[in-house]
Amino acid sequence: MFSFKAILRNDMQIQPAYPTINELQAYPAGKPLEEFKREYGIEDVIKLASNENPLGCSSHVTLAIVQELAQLARYPDSNAHNIKQALSEFHDLPIEYFTIGNGSEELINLITRCFVSSNDAVVFGQYSFIAYPLVTAAQGATKIEVPAKNYGIDLDAMLDAIKTNEEKVKVVFIANPNNPTGTILTKEQIHNFLQKVPPSVLVVLDEAYVDYDTSADAQEFVQQFDNVIVLRTFSKAYGLAGVRIGYAIANPEINDIFNRVRQPFNVNCVAQAAAVAAITDRDFVNTVKTTTADKRKWFYKQFDALGLNYVKSHTNFILVQIDNASDINQKLLEQGIIIRPMDEYGLDNWIRVSMGTEVENIRFIDSLKDLLSA
Ligand SMILES: Cc1ncc(COP(=O)(O)O)c(C=O)c1O
Repeated sequence: MFSFKAILRNDMQIQPAYPTINELQAYPAGKPLEEFKREYGIEDVIKLASNENPLGCSSHVTLAIVQELAQLARYPDSNAHNIKQALSEFHDLPIEYFTIGNGSEELINLITRCFVSSNDAVVFGQYSFIAYPLVTAAQGATKIEVPAKNYGIDLDAMLDAIKTNEEKVKVVFIANPNNPTGTILTKEQIHNFLQKVPPSVLVVLDEAYVDYDTSADAQEFVQQFDNVIVLRTFSKAYGLAGVRIGYAIANPEINDIFNRVRQPFNVNCVAQAAAVAAITDRDFVNTVKTTTADKRKWFYKQFDALGLNYVKSHTNFILVQIDNASDINQKLLEQGIIIRPMDEYGLDNWIRVSMGTEVENIRFIDSLKDLLSA
């Protein structure tokens, strides 16, 4: 694999738009399973590194995808009408409240492209989703990382940061529940925060993991506050990470701006059809939610028995503290077990493990037990 840095020659005359782009590292995505198998020569590999859904997706989705295959020669619906209509019914909001993205990552990117210039600043939490600093730097803007409180997002400190940099701050990103720590802010905390944020600052509530804990679902705030955007994804509880589809809930004026800037065919037809089928199969999502809650309890019990410190999670992954995390990670890899070391997030000696199938979870815990006692 080549490194991004290695291909930037000193004598290159072409420079990126902003010096901040030079400091960027490519997004550290988990290795695809096939690449890992080739590299390590191991066939029996389990991946608990990217917070994917071990139950796959609803059978209704598979059927919808197969039916959509007859349409591949056509461009997709640029307006994504069918999925917006389905979302409008699900959220009980007018259709103009939605923008669909090629994953919610595209929307995170679109937000900074639409609203952040190189003179502006973007606020996000320490130990929060790694895409926020990346999209900020890509715009040449200033990153304001607010220190975490008990591994969660500190809203008071965020308000201070906004106040101190009031002229510059354009966007605040809040992942709730948070990735990679799994913590959650209550609806009341968010409401108090929104009442204090200046109306010129956009607050993005990234709810990629909301389906695992719906207690802080913030969609109602979109109608109460003009400056709120809620982001959702089909990649986690709906099991459609490979298809790439997510959405923004925001007031129609914000969506109008998104529509001017986004690519016209940003969401492919298979993804649109899959999402319509996925949003309507509530039984599937409910099963995902309850089985994940059971797995979380099981993991807590295992970590307690091993005497490991972990952060209580409201998601489908858990952050666990382990001495020599990078050694343990390497040894797990050699056994065909992929988890996510957290040093890239500044959490040395922590790992993040996504909940897999029962068999995968037992295999991970058994290996960890052996490695810790070795
Ligand atoms: C907090 C958070 N937001 C957004 C995303 C991106 O999801 P998508 O697959 O919809 O791009 C992720 C993915 O891990 C995430 O953890």
